[in-house]
Amino acid sequence: MGDHMNTPTSDAAAGFGTGETAPSAITVAVIGLGYIGLPTAAILASNGAAVIGVDVNTATVDAVNEGRVPFAEPDLGVFVAGAVSTGALRAQTGTPPADAYIVAVPTPFNADRSADLSYVDAAAAAIAPQLRGGELVILESTSPPGTTRRMADVILAARPDLSLDGSGGRPAVLFVHCPERVLPGRIMVELVTNDRIVGGLTPEASAAAAALYSRFCQGSIHQTEATTAEMAKLVENSYRDVNIAFANELSVISENLGVDVWELIELANHHPRVNILQPGPGVGGHCIAVDPWFIVAADPENSRLIRTAREVNDAKPARVVASILEAAEGSEAPVVAALGLAFKANVDDVRESPAVAIVRSLAEQRPDIQVLVGSPHATVLPRELAELPNVSIAETDKAIAEADVVALLVDHDVFREIRREQLAGKRIIDTRGFWRAWA
Ligand SMILES: NC(=O)c1ccc[n+]([C@@H]2O[C@H](COP(=O)([O-])OP(=O)(O)OC[C@H]3O[C@@H](n4cnc5c(N)ncnc54)[C@H](O)[C@@H]3O)[C@@H](O)[C@H]2O)c1
Repeated sequence: MGDHMNTPTSDAAAGFGTGETAPSAITVAVIGLGYIGLPTAAILASNGAAVIGVDVNTATVDAVNEGRVPFAEPDLGVFVAGAVSTGALRAQTGTPPADAYIVAVPTPFNADRSADLSYVDAAAAAIAPQLRGGELVILESTSPPGTTRRMADVILAARPDLSLDGSGGRPAVLFVHCPERVLPGRIMVELVTNDRIVGGLTPEASAAAAALYSRFCQGSIHQTEATTAEMAKLVENSYRDVNIAFANELSVISENLGVDVWELIELANHHPRVNILQPGPGVGGHCIAVDPWFIVAADPENSRLIRTAREVNDAKPARVVASILEAAEGSEAPVVAALGLAFKANVDDVRESPAVAIVRSLAEQRPDIQVLVGSPHATVLPRELAELPNVSIAETDKAIAEADVVALLVDHDVFREIRREQLAGKRIIDTRGFWRAWA
């Protein structure tokens, strides 16, 4: 299918807002009011839509109806408070009738790394009885290929009087996948400025979704079909994962060869067509460390590179632990300063964080080692670490002063303020290449 940017033309798009005429009044139900759903609900409400936010969590519903945001995200509070005060946004636990539905519920993975689609199924089951035909049903949750089709199947099985394309005289429902790529911390900016992909089960559905998003999206809106849109999001994160795995593999090989991996990468990157990423202690977060598995599950035989990249990145924390243990050898009752807990620089998010895995494994393997965690952003230990008697949070300078081994696990900007003399006499494990000039 071609790429029609911001030019929805079909009749199905009429009413969802075309950008050429003033957007008409429309009711949008946003299902799931988390990091993705609530900002989307608030921005739509600020752009002429009547928005009903739906969440199974009554505390979230109550917070939104009071104009409050139940999590931290810059500028979101202003949008929510404003939209609630004008009546453009309200929240409830039940799924209402609406012209468009945006589903933004969790899609975590199961123990076997297949996707848990039970939240999507539950949202679809609740939407089905409300439909009359002509509605848009958009899946924004990051999903394995085929999930939009599955959502349509769940809904149409419950509503045999409706169809995908108007066949048999049954009114059509417009099913679309629209992956979300906003960066937490910048969601209210990127919702407006990022390009979007809308992939419908029919071209009419894609056009209608493009019309809806054009109410607030200033980026290009690329129309395609649903499975391509689902794969696009997964491929973006797999691309990052594979490239980071290459750097991480180089870091292990370099250590074995006695080569400085940071210098190696810097030199190789002087080649005009080479751009190797930086290695680290592993890969974390709820996207890059999770989404590639959805591709592997969809075609295990042919996703060898993607699977191996995941395995390479997942193996890196154990390698860091081994290096720390080696550095601690010879110290009686060793103290290790572990600097950073978050999954990436300058955030407090510890989901799937390799730094947490490293601290946990170290402390569990060696109860005689004291681990002092210097964590300027995530200032409370996650439960899995809090229950370990030999792990505690410490102020960064104090942790370094007391340590025999200093392990830099996250490249937070504040750690750049650590002075060379603070590290004098310490054994250093630098997973980010911060202090290579001092080696
Ligand atoms: N957070 C991000 O940065 C990000 C970025 C891109 C994509 N995504 C994807 O977006 C989706 C949502 O992620 P999130 O971070 O907003 O999750 P979240 O956990 O912050 O929010 C999900 C919300 O859905 C609610 N919910 C669960 N089941 C429900 C149901 N049946 N009906 C109504 N509400 C229900 C939960 O109570 C919760 O408030 C996931 O698929 C995620 O992978 C997230």
